[in-house]
Amino acid sequence: MAGLLLRDLAQVATPAAGTGEAARGADLRAVDVIEDAFIYCRGETIAAVGRMRDLEPLDGDVEELDCSGLSAVPGLVDCHTHPAFGGDRVGEFSLRAGGASYEELHAAGGGILSTVAATRALSPEALVERVEQHAAWMLAHGTTAWEGKSGYGLDHDTELAQLRVIRAAGGVPTWLGAHAVPPEFPDSDAYLDFALAEVLPEVVGLAEAADVFVENGAFDVPHARRYLTACLDAGLALRLHGDQFTEQGAVPLAIELGARSVDHLEATGDEGVRALAGSDVTAVLLPASALFLGRRMPPGRTLVDAGAAVAIATDFNPGSAFCESLPLVCSLAATQLQLSPAEALGACTVNAAHVLGRADRKGRLAPGYDADLVLLDTPDWRYLAYHLGHDHVLTVIWGRAALP
Ligand code: NIG
Ligand code: FE
Repeated sequence: MAGLLLRDLAQVATPAAGTGEAARGADLRAVDVIEDAFIYCRGETIAAVGRMRDLEPLDGDVEELDCSGLSAVPGLVDCHTHPAFGGDRVGEFSLRAGGASYEELHAAGGGILSTVAATRALSPEALVERVEQHAAWMLAHGTTAWEGKSGYGLDHDTELAQLRVIRAAGGVPTWLGAHAVPPEFPDSDAYLDFALAEVLPEVVGLAEAADVFVENGAFDVPHARRYLTACLDAGLALRLHGDQFTEQGAVPLAIELGARSVDHLEATGDEGVRALAGSDVTAVLLPASALFLGRRMPPGRTLVDAGAAVAIATDFNPGSAFCESLPLVCSLAATQLQLSPAEALGACTVNAAHVLGRADRKGRLAPGYDADLVLLDTPDWRYLAYHLGHDHVLTVIWGRAALP
């Protein structure tokens, strides 16, 4: 097994060993920073991390990389993306820039449903090409593990094709079978009758989780409960899009059903914050989406201070967040959500890995973890959040394939 030694790093920054649960409060900002450091990988696993002065002689076939002046952080984990879509929404973006609202465009058959039509029209090869392109964009920004949702097919074949393509591209697939009611069904009940009877049985074994958009114009709480309960019974983990524009009861529903996460939370008030803080549901915040739509930001600082488990993600999609950069999301977390760079790092590494059920291997630089890491072309890792819009990602090491 070949070894790779990253030597003379100015800094290695990694979330500290936690409790085995998602990090909360002071644990979220506990980042170990090792100066003048090395990382030693064997095969696809990290074997050792430490100070150069403690580096012991290494046996066997070892490639060495001089990392002077660079810092390293764990490969970033994007726990919320919608990468499987056809077309774009640049026309809608232009209309919104001129004052139209996202909800108006959605109600007029634009928005999500226009992407559904464009995705259904893609050939199988074109869908693969699109998802691979989006995965390459994420990787170039330091994302080495990512979740990808379906939800732009909303019919049998396109939903399953999205999940297969996401998995083949290296993503963790989530069935967003309840994203919107497609036009061929008269109402939510008729659509869910179909989706739960015809699609869910084939989603099992392909997707790891199920997701629903709880919002006016999408699904209400009784329909979301019906969908999620059926998915839970079928063995899927649960996620919810909740409180994006209005509080409809997604937070209590997520807690009632033991969901892994409730995502968005731009509209969440004090009661929702308290409820999340007392639960095991992770609050996944998507500040690029709030920025892209010109909405109020979710209450990041309040959630962390209340003791909630908080993760951050891009929400990469063509309509509400055409952004695949977790470094930019870290900058937004620091400037808009009042999280420190350390909290932002924990939120898109260990806590995001928890949401994906992969915290035993992803999200930290420590022996036994996957050899996924990002080399930054700066000696201070906090530039990841500090340098707004700049790309400090020099090299991504992932599954032992280094990008230039
Ligand atoms: O997370 N809010 C629902 N779904 C996506 C947006 C999808 C779209 O606009 O195409 C989101 O923001
Ligand atoms: Fe989303």
